[in-house]
Amino acid sequence: MGAGKSTLGPEVADRLGRPFIDLDRELERDLGQAIPQLFRQQGGEAEFRVREAGQAIAALRLPDPAVIAFGGGAVQTASIRNELRDRALTVVLEVDPETAWERSAGGDRPLAQDESQFKALYERRRELYDAVADAHAYDVEDVVLAAGGVRVGAGSLESLADLLPGSGSVALVSDPHVGGIHGAAAQLALRSRLASVHEVPSGEEAKTAAVADRLWNELRLDRDGVLVALGGGSVTDLVGFVASTYMRGIDWVPVPTTLVGQVDAAFGGKTAIDLPAGKNLVGAFHWPSRVVVDPVVLETLPERERREGMAEVVKTGLLADEPLWNLPTPELVRRCAAFKAAVCLRDPLDRGEREVLNLGHTFAHALEAAAGFQGLTHGSAVALGLLAALRLSGRPTDPVEDVLAPEPVRVDRERAWEALRRDKKARDGRVRLVLLREDGPVVESRPDSEVRAALDELIAG
Ligand SMILES: NC(=O)c1ccc[n+]([C@@H]2O[C@H](COP(=O)([O-])OP(=O)(O)OC[C@H]3O[C@@H](n4cnc5c(N)ncnc54)[C@H](O)[C@@H]3O)[C@@H](O)[C@H]2O)c1
Ligand SMILES: [Zn+2]
Repeated sequence: MGAGKSTLGPEVADRLGRPFIDLDRELERDLGQAIPQLFRQQGGEAEFRVREAGQAIAALRLPDPAVIAFGGGAVQTASIRNELRDRALTVVLEVDPETAWERSAGGDRPLAQDESQFKALYERRRELYDAVADAHAYDVEDVVLAAGGVRVGAGSLESLADLLPGSGSVALVSDPHVGGIHGAAAQLALRSRLASVHEVPSGEEAKTAAVADRLWNELRLDRDGVLVALGGGSVTDLVGFVASTYMRGIDWVPVPTTLVGQVDAAFGGKTAIDLPAGKNLVGAFHWPSRVVVDPVVLETLPERERREGMAEVVKTGLLADEPLWNLPTPELVRRCAAFKAAVCLRDPLDRGEREVLNLGHTFAHALEAAAGFQGLTHGSAVALGLLAALRLSGRPTDPVEDVLAPEPVRVDRERAWEALRRDKKARDGRVRLVLLREDGPVVESRPDSEVRAALDELIAG
């Protein structure tokens, strides 16, 4: 009561692309009267709880997933608690008793008429909430992250074992840098379930068929085993792919250690290895069972790698239309992770809306290809690509200039243009671009001449 679920519920539903059901409102409609009115009648609360249970259980048994807001007292009914346990991801919206009282008092809420009674009720219900809670949340982002199975927070690496699915054995995979710095902490956290530890090369070299083959052969997990990937996007892409194929697919949990990983690569279930002909050419959609994000591990990340991640942070902020890049790192990570998780939950197999995550990337890929994937990092290419996307959207470019300071790159103009036109997002011979509009990102094509001019502006000499 007074936690703000009627405001937050619809926002969560919107972010997840699910319908919203407010049980109290539905009940009032069914009853043909307001809840306070019913409470004032003889036996009113008992009658209300019976009706509430019927309605709650019916809603929980609906065939399609929905976001459902429960009244504050619903957890007092055992049948509702059981049904929640079986069928729902239950998130308790946290609020301190003072705030809850301030929000609830002065109205006609029957159980919010007397402050000390209100607070006593709050304390009594506390235990029941904790018993049904799969997660606790303070805001929309927390709920979205819980829905996506994502845990973000300092110290989550230490609690890794508690966050894993099932009870099978665990194989931990890392690269030599990350393993050397954070491997011991991960092994300590996993010790009760750890079956084996594996090392793969650092960086893109991890993403080869040879390395995947070696892992398949080294692993001794059963079908209930869990692969844990401790590292940046290279390690998580590889391990996710191996998990998708080993024994026809086992659980896996990325523990991203780069900024790129924490705001981008670890979410959404895209896994891949490279072929000599190109990056990410073999892979699978295999959603991780959980994602464990501990921003503390970023403290050891080299500045160069941090800049790589900032390019994706600026991209995310532009898409979310909020200056997320100005936030302190832990909050920046939490907000970006929630943004990507929500887009991917709305479009789990990348068949539609997720395309907006390509903001700036059509240009970036063209420049990377023209540079022969040498001398130009993905992050620098994305920074330039974002410039072009902002210019074509008629938007000011200062967020990109201020945060990423991109420099025009020396590559062959023709080669870049050819690569851009070949981009896999081209349809009917016209390049499709993600652009920003007042009311959010859109995917559209622009005349070749405009696109070419925008590309040329990114190239030096
Ligand atoms: N699956 C997806 O949706 C997705 C999205 C974006 C990127 N990616 C992939 O991610 C890969 C790039 O990943 P990345 O940018 O995270 O880099 P990375 O995994 O290649 O790591 C970069 C370097 O940083 C080191 N490192 C990692 N964490 C560290 C830490 N905490 N302290 C010190 N050093 C650390 C690594 O050892 C490595 O040398 C690319 O292959 C890209 O295709 C995938
Ligand atoms: Zn990118």
